[in-house]
Amino acid sequence: MADLKDRVEGLRKAFEAEALKVGDAKSLEGLRTAFLSRKKGHVTLLFEGLKSVPAEDKREAGRLVNAFKTFVQDGLQTLEGKVRTDGRPAQALDLTLPGRKRYVGAPHPLVLFQQEIENVFLGMGFTIEEGPEIETDYYNFEALNFPPHHPARDSWDTLYITDDLLLRTHTSPVQIRVMEKKKPPIRIIIPGRVFRRETPDPTHLPMFMQIEGLVVDEGITFAHLKGTLEYFIRALFGEKIKVRFRPSFFPFTEPSAEVDIECIVCGGQDKSCRVCGGTGWKEILGSGMVDPQVLKNVNIDPEKYSGWAFGLGIDRTAMFAFGITEMRHFYENDLRFLRQFGTK
Ligand code: PHE
Repeated sequence: MADLKDRVEGLRKAFEAEALKVGDAKSLEGLRTAFLSRKKGHVTLLFEGLKSVPAEDKREAGRLVNAFKTFVQDGLQTLEGKVRTDGRPAQALDLTLPGRKRYVGAPHPLVLFQQEIENVFLGMGFTIEEGPEIETDYYNFEALNFPPHHPARDSWDTLYITDDLLLRTHTSPVQIRVMEKKKPPIRIIIPGRVFRRETPDPTHLPMFMQIEGLVVDEGITFAHLKGTLEYFIRALFGEKIKVRFRPSFFPFTEPSAEVDIECIVCGGQDKSCRVCGGTGWKEILGSGMVDPQVLKNVNIDPEKYSGWAFGLGIDRTAMFAFGITEMRHFYENDLRFLRQFGTK
């Protein structure tokens, strides 16, 4: 037994000494053969020697030899990491390798789309306004002609902070904030985040983006609303896109209309289209003539002035424009998704 221990110890030292000299694939292979070769490798010979060990020592001797084998295998594996298999030394600098391209980042697809929308309106002389994401009941509802406890409040699934404070459910409260400060003529757009109590699914999220528009001046009619929105939609989706105005209801506009555009994903041809549900139309915005009561609430004389407004869902319109069927992609920051937009 003592003999065997000495032999293993000697081999361990030999292995360590040889390992220090290994600098390339060839010398590594030499070391492997010397120790592990099936015919005359040192480890193989140790195993063969076990046959002549007396029965009472077999167990311990076996353990010793097995441990040494593992030691050799681990050592060889470590060396492999240090040596390149093509035979060149590990640290060689390969000047022929192409450089690695650095991804410098790009604007988020929703930002790109928001800017596209903004540019159309900036081109028509609109300016951009913003407002707070945490709102009071007054701005989000009451000044917009939703009386307390009015059932219309139910269609905005509100996230309340206190009885009076909430996360705005739409960008419309900013209409009020702006009209309190500025008098007509007003021609503004208001982009921003809005919040609703929704369970996330492919087309709903508890947080999403809207862009609001508001025009107030003397002699503003529904024809201005229709002409401007049609121009905007054609600028965004092309001259040929079909647009439809559908009567609707909002407490702060009268009359009100929702605007649909033809489904550019299926062209109305696919009864099971995931985007339009087979109807051939996709709703993108709500709009209407500013209710005279709303103008009164901000001390603008409805006898003298009239206006129109709209609110568009940026995310859902962007999904439509880019042909994306899952809204959550916009917020999950998966680079494989994001890298498809903007500068690469
Ligand atoms: N605020 C409404 C919504 O969130 C949209 C809208 C804005 C409708 C302005 C009319 C005028 O659904």
